[in-house]
Amino acid sequence: MKRIAILTGGGDAPGLNAVIRAVVKTAANLYNCEVMGVRDGFDGFLGDYGIFPLDQAAVRGILPRGGTILGSANRGNPFARKVVRNGREVVEDVSGRIKDNIEALKLDALIVVGGDGTLRIARELFPIGVPVIGVPKTIDNDIGGTDCTFGYDTALNIATDALDRLHTTAEAHHRVMVLELMGRDAGFIALTAGLAGGADVILIPEIPFTMEYINEKILKRSERGTHFSIVAVAEGARRVGGEIVVSRMGDEVYTPRLGGIAVRVADEITRMTKIESRVIVLGHLQRGGTPTAFDRDLATRFGSAAVRLAAAGGFGRMVALQNTKVVDISLDEALASPKRVDINCDAIRTARDLGISFGDNPLKS
Ligand code: F6P
Repeated sequence: MKRIAILTGGGDAPGLNAVIRAVVKTAANLYNCEVMGVRDGFDGFLGDYGIFPLDQAAVRGILPRGGTILGSANRGNPFARKVVRNGREVVEDVSGRIKDNIEALKLDALIVVGGDGTLRIARELFPIGVPVIGVPKTIDNDIGGTDCTFGYDTALNIATDALDRLHTTAEAHHRVMVLELMGRDAGFIALTAGLAGGADVILIPEIPFTMEYINEKILKRSERGTHFSIVAVAEGARRVGGEIVVSRMGDEVYTPRLGGIAVRVADEITRMTKIESRVIVLGHLQRGGTPTAFDRDLATRFGSAAVRLAAAGGFGRMVALQNTKVVDISLDEALASPKRVDINCDAIRTARDLGISFGDNPLKS
């Protein structure tokens, strides 16, 4: 193995730089192998200045830094790329150019660090001859086959801190605070931060909710003399029989942008309980800043393992964490079914035992 490349795709997650650093150091120390950085996800293969050498000096000091020194893109699917031809926007498959570039650069492996969307692209590139190795990242924690992804722990800590801070101001003003959290179609951030941050109501995509049950919980607290409540709502949560709330519709290339559920929930709480509510959308703060020690450690172990996997010729596979050990699994296995909160898991059970409402019928659950 003489030369490999690394790219980071999709929404950024704290720990990406730790992976890049681990890849460069492991490649140099173990294999005397050169590493190339690819700018802005797969887009780097399509422009003129998208690929550059990454040596140890280039990765010095980046371990605690959020973001990614390579840049990222979450609209860069080479199999379906929007381009303008004769003044008209058309969707084209440009994946062949990536394969040609990889051959021209004599790359022995391409390490793809990404979430669900980016890893799906890697899986499609593998059968056309691109020697891909996957590394799972996302704050959403929704990748199968791995106990968790890096970035998730940092997002959880930021969300929990927000809930702690909301408690004091909610109590001072006798208000309901509704905090909207990321996670797309998975409720991991809202559930775990909700538990860690003492939320009274947790709304997740896996358990559709009914406003009556949410209000019942808030009014009961009020009757007991506790005149404030905290609601943690995942951006992908929805009412029974309702739709996910989006702030921008998707199309054949772009996924819909989720957002707006907290406003709907808070408005209904105020209307039905007459208790004043406020909305806080934590948004991209969950992805920014320095990674936690857990995420730095996991990202470093993933990066190093990805290089060893490349040297062993384990293409079409992804590194994963299983029972505290870093292992590798096929991209097919990882992407077979998206990971979601198991509604019978002990975290849900614990939350219910503590009296936390999921906006469903507590007697039936
Ligand atoms: O997948 C990570 C994530 O942060 C989701 O939780 C969120 O819905 C989405 O990305 C936001 O994407 P963007 O950066 O395009 O706003």
